[in-house]
Amino acid sequence: MKDPWGRIIDYMRISITDRCNLRCKYCMPEGIDWIPMDEILTLEEIAQVASCGALLGIRHIKITGGEPLVRLGCCHLIRTLKQIPGIEKVTITTNGILLGQYLESLKQAGIDGINISLDTTDRCLFKKITGTDGLEMVLESLKQAVAMGLPVKVNAVSVDWDSWREDGQAGVAWKSLLELARTDPVDVRFIEMMPIGAGKDFPTVSHERLLTELKASYPGVKRDMKVHGFGPAVYYTIDGFRGSIGFISAIHGKFCDSCNRVRLTSQGYLKTCLCYEDGVDLRKILRADLPDREKRIRMEQAMEEAILQKPIAHCFDDPGQITEHKGMSCIGG
Ligand code: 5AD
Ligand code: SF4
Repeated sequence: MKDPWGRIIDYMRISITDRCNLRCKYCMPEGIDWIPMDEILTLEEIAQVASCGALLGIRHIKITGGEPLVRLGCCHLIRTLKQIPGIEKVTITTNGILLGQYLESLKQAGIDGINISLDTTDRCLFKKITGTDGLEMVLESLKQAVAMGLPVKVNAVSVDWDSWREDGQAGVAWKSLLELARTDPVDVRFIEMMPIGAGKDFPTVSHERLLTELKASYPGVKRDMKVHGFGPAVYYTIDGFRGSIGFISAIHGKFCDSCNRVRLTSQGYLKTCLCYEDGVDLRKILRADLPDREKRIRMEQAMEEAILQKPIAHCFDDPGQITEHKGMSCIGG
């Protein structure tokens, strides 16, 4: 459906858990409290929300977390979502640690694409950022997914990690990630860090700077106009590279005028913009003492009303206006 600003909303990100098996410093610092399980939507409830979304024009669903693969039944949910009339694509964002274990089931379930969150290919740095010595597992799963013919993208937050390296050498961390796009047909995308949750303490590197460095290091850089997905990434190609390089510049390249999405938190709150609390508590409707048909009608109405009040743009440039206080692991990125 269209929101009041004429944008077509056809994409829903669904966070199925706030739990994660990594502890990335900018997302899940030690001491974070888990949401009680009875507050988290059941897989059946998630499927009901997705069905209502499909009636309102949602066509693409992204499964997120926390880490979605730590939730039992994740692949079964994906299979269920794929069968909802109107839903054309279901993709997943994972940190890749459990990916190898679930690749076959994901493929069987009909997954349409896999985004791997990976901030570095340097083993020591990976351990420092995530708290886990798991880089090899992630890279192996990535290669396996590619070999299975699944579309794979890598997402990295744009933070100056070089200062975290023992040798402090500039430009190493992000350039080594680029190598993945040289050796494999994977798009490597950089995401400007948003001041959400612990991310507030990790200032983003501006993509203007990254792009200047990219062009200086690889003279063959060209804009890539091919459509890669449903999101706001701006892509570039480099001669000899099999994948493209994408920039998702939420902060310095506000792309809210082409926003196509809503988000469902693991607690069943439909969020209409990352920056604000605006939205509607669908769990209240799902768990009301009402006949199923009545619930569906109310839910569809509530979702429609929320979308009709979708804010025009985020306000990260004016942090005083931010009303969202939950962390990224609850929202799902
Ligand atoms: N800003 C931007 N991206 C973030 N992520 C986690 N926290 C933030 C933030 N504050 C990213 C993770 C992962 C995705 C789910 O969200 O790195 O790629
Ligand atoms: Fe887990 Fe992703 Fe958060 Fe890292 S950024 S702790 S992988 S949810």
